[in-house]
Amino acid sequence: MTRKILVTSALPYANGSIHLGHLVEYIQTDIWVRFQKMQGHRCHYVCADDTHGTPIMLRAQKEGITPEELIAKVWHEHYSDFQGFHIGFDNYYSTNTPETRHYADDIYLKLKEQGLIEVRAIEQFYDPVKEMFLPDRFIKGECPKCHAKDQYGDSCEACGAAYQPTDLIEPFSAVSGATPVKKQSDHYFFKLSDEKCRNFLKEWIKPPHVQAEAANKLNEWLESGLSDWDISRDAPYFGFEIPDAPGKFYYVWLDAPIGYMGSFKNLCDKQGLNFDEYWGKDSTAEVYHFIGKDILYFHALFWPAELEYADYRTPSGVFAHGFLTVNGQKMSKSRGTFITASSYLKHLNPEHLRYYFAAKLGATIEDIDLSLEDFTARVNSDLVGKFVNIASRCAGFLSKSFDGKVGPMESAYVERITPILKVGSAEDLGNNLAMGGLNSTFREAGKEIAALYEAREYGKALRKIMELADLANQFIDEQKPWVLAKDPAQQNRLHMVCSTGLEMFRLLTLYLKPVLPEVAKSVETFLNVPELKWADIHAALPEGHRINAYQHLMTRIDSKQVEAMTEANKESLAPQPEQQSQARHAEHQQHQAAKQPPPGAGEEAKVGAIAPLCTIDDFAKIDLRIARIANAEHVEGAEKLLKLTLDIGEAQPRTVFAGIKSAYDPALLKGRMTVMVANLAPRKMKFGMSEGMVLAASGEAPGLFILSPDDGAQPGMRVK
Ligand code: MSP
Ligand code: ZN
Repeated sequence: MTRKILVTSALPYANGSIHLGHLVEYIQTDIWVRFQKMQGHRCHYVCADDTHGTPIMLRAQKEGITPEELIAKVWHEHYSDFQGFHIGFDNYYSTNTPETRHYADDIYLKLKEQGLIEVRAIEQFYDPVKEMFLPDRFIKGECPKCHAKDQYGDSCEACGAAYQPTDLIEPFSAVSGATPVKKQSDHYFFKLSDEKCRNFLKEWIKPPHVQAEAANKLNEWLESGLSDWDISRDAPYFGFEIPDAPGKFYYVWLDAPIGYMGSFKNLCDKQGLNFDEYWGKDSTAEVYHFIGKDILYFHALFWPAELEYADYRTPSGVFAHGFLTVNGQKMSKSRGTFITASSYLKHLNPEHLRYYFAAKLGATIEDIDLSLEDFTARVNSDLVGKFVNIASRCAGFLSKSFDGKVGPMESAYVERITPILKVGSAEDLGNNLAMGGLNSTFREAGKEIAALYEAREYGKALRKIMELADLANQFIDEQKPWVLAKDPAQQNRLHMVCSTGLEMFRLLTLYLKPVLPEVAKSVETFLNVPELKWADIHAALPEGHRINAYQHLMTRIDSKQVEAMTEANKESLAPQPEQQSQARHAEHQQHQAAKQPPPGAGEEAKVGAIAPLCTIDDFAKIDLRIARIANAEHVEGAEKLLKLTLDIGEAQPRTVFAGIKSAYDPALLKGRMTVMVANLAPRKMKFGMSEGMVLAASGEAPGLFILSPDDGAQPGMRVK
C-alpha cells in the first residue's frame, strides 16, 4: 500500500551557520525520507528557516541591515549548505511568509475560541535606553549564588545555578549596558494548565507518538505541573503582530512549528497537493517530526496541544535524537571542533559524514560522538576498502574482455563450478554462498535492512550491509578473477565471477542509496541502470546488459584533510561566514569589471611551437583549482558545449560552458574531479554566463581529453 507521509526536520534559526551538530538531524531525516521514496511511498520532506525573535532583530541592527535582508542572506547560506550535504528537501521555506502567518492566526484564534488564551500583566526587565523588554539571555549581572560576574539572566555558567533574571545582582542590559528597570505589560498565555490540555497530553505522550525514553521525560514534566505558556512579546520584535492585539507579537516558538505547515502549504500550492489530506482532523496521512532532544518540550507538549484544540490532526510521531559531541567532548571553537557545514565541505566528502552519522545513529535519544580518528578509519575501511572495492575489482575485466557485457550469474555459475572449488574454500564461503544461495542471501537481507531503516536503526542496517560486502569480497578473493584472467580456458568462469560480483555490488548500492545518494547515482550511470528503487531487489543485471566503463567512485580520507578542517575552524583562524561571502562578492565584481576577453578562450589549441617564455610570476596569475563536476548537461541548441556545474569549495558552484560535447557523455562526467581556471574573467556566452574554464588536452589526432587529478585531490585545492 502506498503511504502518504509528511516529514519535517526542526527549522534552524536564521541567525547562525549550519554546523555538524545540526547535520545529525538533517542527515538522519534525509536518509529516512530517501528510504521511504525508494519504497515508492508518497513522502514529502519540508523544512524552513526559523526567522523570528529578538536575537535576529538585534543581529540585523548590528549589521546595519533589515531583518528581512538578514534572513534572506542566511536562507541562501543554509540552503546551499544543505544542498552540499544532499539533503533532499521537497521544500525549504521560511517562517516569515504569508502561509505561516495565516496558520499562526488561524491557530491562535481557534485556541482563543476554545477559551485557551488568557491575558495577564507580568513584570519584566526593560531596557530604558533601547526601549525594549529584555529576554533572559540579554540581561547579565552577578550570580546571586556564587557571585560570578557577567552571568546570563537565566543561569550561571560558573556554578550552574538557575534563577530568575530579577535575582541577578547589579543587572545590566547586554544590548545597551543600561541598568534595566522593572516594567509591567500584558502578555498572552496559552492555558496549558487547563484540565482538558492535561488530560489530552497524558494520553498522547506515549509510544508510538514519542520514544519510550521521551515518554518518561515528558511524564515527569507533566506530573510536576505544566505552566501556562507565554506566547506574546512586546514591540519592538521581529515577528507576526497578533491580529487583535496591536503592539503584541507572537513569541518565535509559537510560529516556528507552524512553519512546518507554512512550508507544506507552499509545497501544496506548487505541486497541487491537498493540504487538508495531511493536516485535517481526519487525515489518514502520517506526519513525523525529527527533532533534537533539546526541543522535545515544544514538540511533544505545546505543539500537539495547540493542534488538538485548533482542530488539526496531531503528529503520528515525534522522533528525538541526541546531541553531537566531537572526539568525546562538546563541540568547541577553541579546539576547532565546532565545525561549520561549509568548512566541512571545503575539506571532505559530504557522503563520508552521512555514512559515519548513519553508522552511529539508532532510534534513541542517546548522544552520538564523531571521533575524527574513527571517522577516517571507518570510512576508509567500509566504503573504500569494502564497498567500492568490489566494483573496481570486477568492472575492469568485464570491460576489457567481454565488451562490458554482463554474463550469466552465480546460481548457474555455482552449479557449474562447485566441483572445481577447493573443498576448504567452499566451506569458507559458507553454505549459503557456495551452494547457490548467494543470490538469496543478498536478496533476503533486503527485508531485514528495510525494517531497520524504517525503525531508524541505521547503525544496525549498515552493519548488515557491510556483512554482505564482506561476503562479496570473500567471494572475489576465493575466485581470484585476476588469476582467471590470465588463463584463456577460464574465460567463462571469469565472466561469471565478475558479473556476479557486480550484481552483488548493485544490491549493496541499492541498500546504501538512502545514505549515499550521489554515489548511487554514479553507480547507476556506471552500471547503466535506471534509478534504483527498493523493488529492484527482485531484478538482476540481465545477461548481455552492457555496463559503462568504471569511473572512480570514492577517495580515501587522508587524516591531513581532517587536520586542515579542524585548523580552519579554530576560532582565531576561522573567517566569519559573512566575511567569506563578502570576499566572494567583491571577487565577483572584479571579474565583472574585467571586460577584456580572456586570452585563448575558445580558441582551438594547435600543435606547434611552444609559446614564448613566461615567468613564474606570470604563471602564478592563473589560479588553477581542483573542481568537482557536480553536474554536466547538454545545452539545448549548442553544438559543441556542455554546461558544467563546478564545485571548487565555494558557497555557490560555478557554471562553466565547455566545448567538450564531442568527447564526453555528460552523465559520465558527473562526480569526476578535474582542473579549472578559477580566476578567468566571466564571459557572457550565447547560453549564459561562463564563470571559468576547464582544461582539456587536444592535438592533431582526434579526441579531446579533460584532466583528472590523482586520488586525494579535493575541490578547491590550488594547482601550481
Ligand atoms: N529554531 C529551533 C527549532 C524550531 S522547530 C519548529 C531550533 N533551531 S536550532 O538551529 O537551534 O536547531 C535546529 C535543530 O538542530 C534542533 O533540532 C536541534 O536540536 C538540532 N541541533 C542543534 N545543535 C545540535 C547538536 N550539537 N547535536 C545534534 N543536534 C543539534 O532549535
Ligand atoms: Zn554562580
